[in-house]
Amino acid sequence: MRVPGGIDRRRLLVAIGGLLVVAGVFVWTQFFREQPAPFFTSDEEHFLYGSVGTEAEQGIPYWIWLVLPRVFPEYLPGPGGYASIGVLARDGHEMPIGLSKVTVGFPRVGINCAMCHAASFRAHADDIPTIYPAAASHQTGEQEYLRFLIRCAEDPRFTASTLLAEIAKNTRLSAVDRLLYRFAIVPGTRRALLRLRDQDAWMHARPDWGRGRIDPFNPVKFGILRQPVDQTIGNSDMMPLWNLARRDGTAYHWDGLSTSLREVVQSSALGDGATRRWMERDFAKWDQTDPRRMSSLRRVMNYIGQLDAPRYPLPVDKTLADAGAPIYVTHCAECHAPEGKRFGAVIPLEEIGTDRHRLDMWTDGAVSAYNQYGNGYSWRFTGFRKTNGYTSVPLDGIWLTAPYLHNGSVPTLAALLEPAERRPRQFWRGLDLFDAEHVGFVSDTADARRVGTPFDVSQPGNSNVGHTYGTTLGPDEKRALLEYLKTL
Ligand code: HEC
Ligand code: HEC
Repeated sequence: MRVPGGIDRRRLLVAIGGLLVVAGVFVWTQFFREQPAPFFTSDEEHFLYGSVGTEAEQGIPYWIWLVLPRVFPEYLPGPGGYASIGVLARDGHEMPIGLSKVTVGFPRVGINCAMCHAASFRAHADDIPTIYPAAASHQTGEQEYLRFLIRCAEDPRFTASTLLAEIAKNTRLSAVDRLLYRFAIVPGTRRALLRLRDQDAWMHARPDWGRGRIDPFNPVKFGILRQPVDQTIGNSDMMPLWNLARRDGTAYHWDGLSTSLREVVQSSALGDGATRRWMERDFAKWDQTDPRRMSSLRRVMNYIGQLDAPRYPLPVDKTLADAGAPIYVTHCAECHAPEGKRFGAVIPLEEIGTDRHRLDMWTDGAVSAYNQYGNGYSWRFTGFRKTNGYTSVPLDGIWLTAPYLHNGSVPTLAALLEPAERRPRQFWRGLDLFDAEHVGFVSDTADARRVGTPFDVSQPGNSNVGHTYGTTLGPDEKRALLEYLKTL
């Protein structure tokens, strides 16, 4: 009889322990080992393609992401894969704009700032689109992207066999990888997407976001800040990200809910799926100056802090614009010119009179939860607050920022200079063809209806009332003001 705890037993334990260590290392390298994110030499490319830490937790396995549009094209609004939901791409890059690829165990695809902050523009129907980095996206359908992924996961064909067969047309995965995909990664992705469906169930009972809009804060409120699900609608238009440093300490976001550019940048990454741990690692490199070593978000912040708005690319009638300048000074400059007394200030809702839903979405509970969310971390937040109105945003590059107002309810600048009852009640968002006469994107043609998503001002959160400045000017004055606005 062997003595319990004798030599053989010890050997066995050592052997088992060794196996566990090997298995642990295997699992860790296959699932969690994070390789450095790809480096991009220019700040612009870093902004368009770089990682803001969203891949590890919220990323989709790259090979699955790549083949989904081919396996389930019927869940996209049209042909062309992800481009059909307005995702932009430039030649010479593996990934589209706004989507980053990082290996965390296996290659994963997350989103970055350019998913919502890059715009496509064509002056004429047969032009190749110009892509403006950091401009407000008016063409991407974030909700459509989300719904596409969820519908794929709900489909009984979302199986390892179907997906691996399609993946095999693109790459030869190793035998180990194929096993991992079959038994862990495919079923795990499916489960994660179905969980996402349940978490996001609240949004499907509210008006659609449509192209170029999201409800940016409710997912954060109900998700990471664990606020109770309420009835609010936070649908808001994307904002352009240029020249932001000059406003540090004043008001960011449509309702001015934060005063700190650093915190807005970091909370945007958290909202997109970065984790607090990633943020802590990134923030440790905040003061590095070598782009290879510095914090990814600091690099983004430097870029959007100093970037100038793009100039209007089409001819401007200079005489007419000159005639518009004094009209701007009289009616608009107080709030919108950088030297204006109320530039970047929060204008109370009663005064501005636009739709109130977005403002009411941001609650006192959310403010204190967000200001505590980073407690114990070196990047902690203190700048979130509750306001009573909307920010008088800068108007540089305003020619490229249609549709207008915080909820994107007015398709063109010309329409914004009309009283609310004469502004369009229905139009389509998402076509990138420019309308130089009214200043905005073409929003009510057969093409606009085919490419875009409908916008109905009678839905909650979509009202186009308020901001009546300039609406009583005469037709000639309006034309002159419009021409001047192109030059900002
Ligand atoms: C999924 C879409 C989406 C992504 C991704 C996104 N944003 Fe935004 N961003 C928005 C929307 C929408 C707003 C306006 C929100 C509001 O106030 O209602 C906004 C507003 C902002 C503002 C405020 C601008 C101003 O003038 O006040 C900043 C700064 C900003 N985003 C930075 C970022 C950064 C940095 C990233 C990446 C880390 C990012 N955003 C990622 C949609 C997005
Ligand atoms: C009392 C301050 C004030 C005055 C005066 C004012 N605005 Fe505004 N403006 C705002 C505020 C606040 C918003 C944001 C309102 C919202 O989105 O709900 C805004 C939004 C805008 C937008 C939309 C910005 C975007 O990115 O969608 C445009 C364009 C604009 N104003 C143009 C003008 C013009 C042109 C004039 C003069 C005829 C003018 N404004 C006068 C406060 C003002």
